[in-house]
Amino acid sequence: MKKLLELITEEFEKAFEKNEYDKKLGKVVVSNRPDLCQYQCNGAMAGAKLYHKAPIMIANQVVESLQDNEMFESVEAVMPGFINIKLNSEFVAKYLNDMKEADKYGCENKAPETIVIDYGGANAAKPLHVGHLRSAVIGESVKRIQKYAGNNVIGDVHLGDWGLQMGLIIVELKERKPDLVYYDESYTGEYPKEAPFTISELEDIYPTASKKSKEDEAFREAAMEATSQLQAGRRGYRALLAHILDVSVTDLKKNYDNLNVSFELWKGESDAQPYIPDMVQMMKDKGFAYMSEGALVVDVKEDTDTKEIPPCIILKSDGASLYSTTDLATIVMRMQDYNPDAIIYLTDQRQSMHFVQVFRCARKTGLVGPDVELTHIGFGTMNGKDGKPFKTRDGGVMRLEYLLDEINEEMLKKITENQKEKENLDISEEEAKQTAKTVALAAVKYGDLSNQASKDYCFDIERFTSFEGNTGPYILYTIVRIKSILKKYTAKNSLPDAPILGAHSASEKNLMLVLSRFNAMMENAYEEKAPHKICAYIYELANAFNGFYHETKILSEEDFKVQASYIGLLVLTKNILETCIDVLGFSAPDRM
Ligand code: ARG
Repeated sequence: MKKLLELITEEFEKAFEKNEYDKKLGKVVVSNRPDLCQYQCNGAMAGAKLYHKAPIMIANQVVESLQDNEMFESVEAVMPGFINIKLNSEFVAKYLNDMKEADKYGCENKAPETIVIDYGGANAAKPLHVGHLRSAVIGESVKRIQKYAGNNVIGDVHLGDWGLQMGLIIVELKERKPDLVYYDESYTGEYPKEAPFTISELEDIYPTASKKSKEDEAFREAAMEATSQLQAGRRGYRALLAHILDVSVTDLKKNYDNLNVSFELWKGESDAQPYIPDMVQMMKDKGFAYMSEGALVVDVKEDTDTKEIPPCIILKSDGASLYSTTDLATIVMRMQDYNPDAIIYLTDQRQSMHFVQVFRCARKTGLVGPDVELTHIGFGTMNGKDGKPFKTRDGGVMRLEYLLDEINEEMLKKITENQKEKENLDISEEEAKQTAKTVALAAVKYGDLSNQASKDYCFDIERFTSFEGNTGPYILYTIVRIKSILKKYTAKNSLPDAPILGAHSASEKNLMLVLSRFNAMMENAYEEKAPHKICAYIYELANAFNGFYHETKILSEEDFKVQASYIGLLVLTKNILETCIDVLGFSAPDRM
């Protein structure tokens, strides 16, 4: 379905052409003075230079040609040569009726591409902390935006399971249970199926070990040695790694479930290791990799660089691989397994240099062809109210679980208060709890996603959980309000199949105009991989709806056709809001 803006632009292009001007001048944009008009065309301004005429003369001619056009309520030339456009409300109504019928409310279905999205960033054996929140929340939404556009998407958690933390756990466990068969190098039999620890033990083992390694040099060295033996393939250690993964993946899945985040793939850094030797050999053979200060490196600087981009280190002087080696080998693996058209990574933006190096190295050495798009979406820091990175009250790293618990509680309080006010006392405690969870998740996700990803933002529970203002709960409240009107309506009538009519008031027209921009907005959010654009849109839509709601008697409207049109508008508003929040990764309760 064509975008509304395209349809308007076509009419303007024709009008420019008719007056023997270049049709390119007919480009129409959303008005930057919504108080004066809804759309505008600035083509006469550019035309003035081209045709050596006063802009207002050109504007007047174009306006003259559009006078009888049914698409417009008014088209006006104003000094010095802008054209202000107001749409005919019948035309907007027809557009909405077409949207109702169209697949995905008029969003284009493009040729599907295969996209791998690397997000979440969890590390095995370490609990999720708030730093992982943004990657999960933004990544899930970017993935759903891709899916909505029709792409085949594969979300991969890319577990951190290959670093020093594994050696630390192995050594600490050995101190606690030295007799485990995994430490006996002469053992050749099968290892037990059951893990020698529970998740709560594991969660104690890692932090203890991490602390020890900072204070105890010998312990640290032992952990490094265990890490390199694990990486070299020592059997017992590999078996322990498998147990660590099993136990922590089960736990991580539970945590991601609570965030309504799920991955198609649970691969980890360890899965990429087998691809390293051949990859390194190829880089050497083709002359890309060379020795520099003992390390094997590939140059990735380019002539147009304005800042220094250091070489990508492939192997350290002791032959060990690095974070970048693993990421390069993961690209090899992903190309083999899925041959994707694009790979998108979500991490803290402090990793952006790493990705510049990895992407350039992958292209230069031919791991990916020129058509494969590699994108890093780097996000800013989540700060506390003090403007510093979010911490627990005693200054430690806050576990994600605890943070979510805190918000659930806050939300339950608000919802219970709200019910008392509205005397909605028939809601059971169980339903209230479930609703609180749903709304709390919306609060957290919307609080994050409504900011441009690259910006830092302040995590403010008080503000995020408010039912008013630019918040998740406000959006949900609007949806619940519509659901409740529709419920009252359908108690007596069946949903009408009648068309939406031209607007009866300014607030209704405003709502209709915002609805008509849905497909353009969604496609733009897709192009720019920008969930915050969807948030900005649903906030505008919720405001437009509430403006209409406060001024309009819907259920007591006596004109049957007008009422049916209102109901049609409500259904469309609800469907579009629900589509948007689904793409953002949260949902609305039936009442709250
Ligand atoms: N595990 C890493 C971390 O906690 C993030 C991994 C991001 N993905 C990647 N392919 N490098 O920082």
